[in-house]
Amino acid sequence: MTRQIGLIAACDLDGMIGYDGSIPWFNKTDLKRFKSKTSNSTLIMGRKTYASLPTNKVTGKKLSDRKKIVLTLNSELKSSDPYLIYTSAENDVDSNINQVIELADKDKDIWFIGGKAIYEMAMDSGLVDIIDLTIINIHAEKPDMVFEKVVWFPEVPYTYKVVNEINNTDDKLLWHRLYERR
Ligand SMILES: NC(=O)c1ccc[n+]([C@@H]2O[C@H](COP(=O)([O-])OP(=O)(O)OC[C@H]3O[C@@H](n4cnc5c(N)ncnc54)[C@H](OP(=O)(O)O)[C@@H]3O)[C@@H](O)[C@H]2O)c1
Repeated sequence: MTRQIGLIAACDLDGMIGYDGSIPWFNKTDLKRFKSKTSNSTLIMGRKTYASLPTNKVTGKKLSDRKKIVLTLNSELKSSDPYLIYTSAENDVDSNINQVIELADKDKDIWFIGGKAIYEMAMDSGLVDIIDLTIINIHAEKPDMVFEKVVWFPEVPYTYKVVNEINNTDDKLLWHRLYERR
């Protein structure tokens, strides 16, 4: 069986995915779904998304059961944890995204988990097979929010089409839109 390369995200009705370094809502059902979808996979993310993840109180690590590849231009960032790799995709993103993928476990699925530039890079690379977008039926924007701190889900390129749209059976606030490459 060939491994799948996917992108997973959750946004509000306006396409907001983040605010000021975190996700501006808390939804247990979506977190559980994210965990079950991405377990036993390699996760690729930007440095700010990694920073936003909660640390497990027991292990002192983040998403400790999954291999994480964190993109950063900061060459000072190093890890001795085999489950955590810092790397860069500077300059030629097309060839570098292949190098980033090379770092993933060969026999496991890969998920791009954000943030914005990483989603864009992944979708533009043409290597992503599926996009799993959860939409939460709220407007997360608050009057006191600073626009520059809002992170939006990027436009999905025409090279992807919606193949399924399903309501979440456990939480009426959520639905899931699945795209596949044309
Ligand atoms: N709702 C969701 O599904 C979801 C998912 C993920 C994240 N989020 C939210 O989104 C926000 C974070 O996203 P973000 O877009 O601001 O940041 P991000 O993509 O997570 O991280 C940006 C950082 O990644 C590194 N980077 C980006 N492109 C790179 C490249 N080509 N090569 C090497 N390094 C690269 C840089 O790190 P350096 O500065 O270290 O060089 C850059 O500052 C948070 O609020 C988070 O909670 C939401």
